Amino acid sequence: MPRTLDSTLRRELANRIRYYNELGIYDFYRREVDSPVAPSGLQQDEMRDEMNVRSALAEEDLVASPRPESRTPDPVQALRIVREDLGDCTRCRLHKQGRKQIVFGVGNPRAELMFIGEAPGADEDEQGEPFVGRAGQLLNNMIKAMGLGREDVYIANIIKCRPPGNRTPERDECETCSPFLMRQIAVIKPKVIVALGAVAAKTLLAINAPMAELRGHWYDFRGTKLSVTYHPAFLLRDPRQKKEAWKDLQMVMKELELPIPAKGPQ
Ligand code: URA
Repeated sequence: MPRTLDSTLRRELANRIRYYNELGIYDFYRREVDSPVAPSGLQQDEMRDEMNVRSALAEEDLVASPRPESRTPDPVQALRIVREDLGDCTRCRLHKQGRKQIVFGVGNPRAELMFIGEAPGADEDEQGEPFVGRAGQLLNNMIKAMGLGREDVYIANIIKCRPPGNRTPERDECETCSPFLMRQIAVIKPKVIVALGAVAAKTLLAINAPMAELRGHWYDFRGTKLSVTYHPAFLLRDPRQKKEAWKDLQMVMKELELPIPAKGPQ
């Protein structure tokens, strides 16, 4: 991409952004899969290119239009607008692969803490709410061990439709769906996000690293603190890791200034 944008390219980009806005897509970001945490020289060039594009569009007053939910200060109303925009979504193949319903998200629209999982499973698809099956019961216990209730936090997934046979979401499914999650996060403005499992962590952070490396650190996610812990479904398969997950949650509690009880989730 050229370092400066000629006027034709600017106009084409602006038109493309408007087109996406009309489809209800407001967030654009470049993901670097299979990349180390620190950007390479080439990646730094790409970031600079992206900044050039954004500043050129801003100079031309051709920036993307504001998200419709930003018109209201009420997060309940704002989430309703995002949900309405999502509609009976057919943006990716999952709508015709057996999903029963869209699983938008649940909890306190003013939550300080947000949990983000991978994708709805069979129970969630049936009930239209994230984390209501066995993994959800364990997540509830984890939340309770933190001295909170499910109604205090907000829970969502990277993608909002069940993949057939609970397969791992495809990259393009995550890319198509996650702008809506970004809008939910922007409305809720949590102090802390906890990514549950590798798919959520890698999608949000756009880095490819093993869980052992991803856990135990704070990341900056668009200005919000983000940490990573094991997915409850993994903890059901390997309960010995629960004490590690409890360490992760204690790190979060410290950040949120919650009192730390001696006992972890059962
Ligand atoms: N696993 C997830 O990642 N999300 C759910 O909602 C349920 C199970």
